Amino acid sequence: MSYKKHYSRYLAEHPNSLHFAPHSHHYWPDVTRDAQLAYWDDSARGVDHKWGTIFGERVPAVQKYLAQLLNHPYPEQFVFASNTHELLYRVISSYAPDKPLKILSTDSEFHSFSRQIRRLQERPQVELVSIATEPFDTFEARWLAAVQNQEFDLIFTSQVFYNSGVVAPDLKTWIDVVPARTQIIIDGYHGCGAVPTDLSEFADRVFYLAGGYKYLQAGEGCCFMAVPKGSQLRPEFTGWFADFENLAKPQQAQVEYADDGMRFAGATMDFSAVYRLESVLGWWYRDGLTVTAIHDYVQQLQHAFLSILDEVQHPHINRKNLLANNLSHHGHFLTFKLVDAQTVEQLATHLSEHGIETDYRAERLRFGFAIYHDVGDYQQLKNALSQT
Ligand SMILES: Cc1ncc(COP(=O)(O)O)c(C=O)c1O
Repeated sequence: MSYKKHYSRYLAEHPNSLHFAPHSHHYWPDVTRDAQLAYWDDSARGVDHKWGTIFGERVPAVQKYLAQLLNHPYPEQFVFASNTHELLYRVISSYAPDKPLKILSTDSEFHSFSRQIRRLQERPQVELVSIATEPFDTFEARWLAAVQNQEFDLIFTSQVFYNSGVVAPDLKTWIDVVPARTQIIIDGYHGCGAVPTDLSEFADRVFYLAGGYKYLQAGEGCCFMAVPKGSQLRPEFTGWFADFENLAKPQQAQVEYADDGMRFAGATMDFSAVYRLESVLGWWYRDGLTVTAIHDYVQQLQHAFLSILDEVQHPHINRKNLLANNLSHHGHFLTFKLVDAQTVEQLATHLSEHGIETDYRAERLRFGFAIYHDVGDYQQLKNALSQT
């Protein structure tokens, strides 16, 4: 089964490329182009009234698709923003800046969190406990011990770590130990749309963050957060979308918030990415293309890729340098940790000259997999690797 026909426009632009970076920037399927035009048409037709269509039809449709995708029982708990950083900062801004704020996290969080936390640590009352994800085989035990041994105001962890593809410990193994007052944020960006995810048991407990740039294939501009049902947090960084209901009332009283996900909303944004996301999830839904099916397909690709590596016996890109804990439960990219950044850059350049697009950060080289690949495409990789 090939899915390439759904990506005809992006593939036509890159006929000689083997795009191994969908974990960074996924190709957009053809349906997203129609969605982009639909946004234009709705804007032209509706002008000022387009917001009725957006908030009355499009946003609820995407909320429903996302709830279905993640087996989350409350579609109205999903809130949208242009990026995850904005949503994350809304949660953080719910804590008074002059009070102690103790956070548990890992050393493998994406910059949207790690940079922000580094800056916040300049406040003497902010304390971060950071657990190293490596060695992976002891991470689960070390994480659980950290959760058990101290009390935190906030816990932040990825679902799948961006710098390895390793899947974080299952929420079920540690969530019961966490006191009710502790807020939990899961950065699901590398999980959502890639690894089958079931939030049904955690819908009133965790914030789940993700966005459309990667596995949801809708491009930049549509991130979202599932807000725990019944959350009473009052983000200080708040916008007027967070309380539509009371907008017409006198505004002198205490600032009120919506009781659903909109509590964490900001202000006017470009909703074209929400349209694109609707078109992708609509296609998956119509064709019965589930995350489980996508994940199975990607696992087959990863298996084929690793068989090629075993054959080629490359001095750097080989299983010895592969960062992994459990390949049968891993994200949609494979990361090789090489001797130094220079070797990585040289290899990535060589591969790119042979039409193989990867992505790298310092001494890590990442290969991502997507349903617009076929196993047969990997002959190009075999040829390129054999020539280094
Ligand atoms: C784990 C993770 N979280 C979040 C993001 C995106 O962050 P933002 O939407 O704040 O730019 C990325 C992007 O690469 C990521 O890898």
